[in-house]
Amino acid sequence: MTLATMNITAPFDVSVGSASGVRPTLTFSGRAHGHASVHHTPALITETVEWLSVSPGKVYLDGTVGEGGHSEAILDASGPTGGVLGIDRDPRSVDAARRRLTGYGDRVRIVHGNYADMSELARQAGIASVDGVLLDLGFSSRQVDAAGYGFSFQRDEPLDMRYDTVGLTAADLLNHSDERELADVIFRYGEERRSRAVARAIVAARPINSTGRLSAVVARALGGRRGGRHPATRTFQALRIAVNDELMHLQAGLDAAPGMLSAGGRLVVISYHSLEDRLVKAWMDREATQCVCPPELPVCACDHEPTVRFARRRVVRPSATETQNNPRSRSARLRAVERI
Ligand SMILES: C[S@@+](CC[C@H](N)C(=O)[O-])C[C@H]1O[C@@H](n2cnc3c(N)ncnc32)[C@H](O)[C@@H]1O
Repeated sequence: MTLATMNITAPFDVSVGSASGVRPTLTFSGRAHGHASVHHTPALITETVEWLSVSPGKVYLDGTVGEGGHSEAILDASGPTGGVLGIDRDPRSVDAARRRLTGYGDRVRIVHGNYADMSELARQAGIASVDGVLLDLGFSSRQVDAAGYGFSFQRDEPLDMRYDTVGLTAADLLNHSDERELADVIFRYGEERRSRAVARAIVAARPINSTGRLSAVVARALGGRRGGRHPATRTFQALRIAVNDELMHLQAGLDAAPGMLSAGGRLVVISYHSLEDRLVKAWMDREATQCVCPPELPVCACDHEPTVRFARRRVVRPSATETQNNPRSRSARLRAVERI
């Protein structure tokens, strides 16, 4: 069944965009102020269509629709009747995707929400199962570059770091956690070996409310660039993951995906750092395995039933040409499994 046959209508204004191959030029506001042109270049786009095994008339769930680049490719490859349900936690991404994909009419529906809740969001959209689920993790270039998110130390602005506009900000976390909690977050989610020194410097410099101040405090605590990277890179990553509960939602999204997929349907996940990729790999290994008992048990006692099989055992990485044309794709890792 397609979105079209389910008579789902595009819940937004049709003003720009085209499904005929002409790419609209979009601009939209950042959170607080200013404008940023849409410019996220999706990673591994051909490989995503290939490993999702996109084919005409099928229905896909894009759990991280962002600016709609992957969804657009899926809609093109699943035409003329295939459909996409796109989900994003960031209302500004939802706006951008709706505007970009509006020319596909009732073949696409974009909703604001968390992919951890994909089953409920799909149910509300009248979709019982899909032929593929895509999770393209983390943030988009637009979110890094646009004003108002506070994801980047390249510009000085309020320390927000939320995808959504609800919940605690990075400044709340930074200014109200004790030193030990902060060190744990920075170590666990940033894999920063000198997390204690960073936490100590942050606590001594509080209150810290801006990205510029935080990056200066971390740089002072750690010294100059490390391996070509800004010293605050790991701390910024840690705060973003903590503020948005990213790993918890990833686990919940992975757990929900098999329940959404029809037999033979694919789950494709693109991750951008080792914490995400390790979690995805461990989840896929476990879900594709008959027995998950501890190795010291002489006989199986788990009764675990695999829900997926590997569509491809090895990780897919971007080609040299892609990383040359889109340097931000260089850390992308795609993994794919298929519903049994
Ligand atoms: C790498 S971008 C996706 C880009 C998209 N594939 C494209 O082609 O434009 C990741 C997106 O996932 C969203 N996101 C992050 N965590 C999410 C979650 N738990 N649920 C839904 N969306 C999430 C972010 O707001 C961001 O828009």
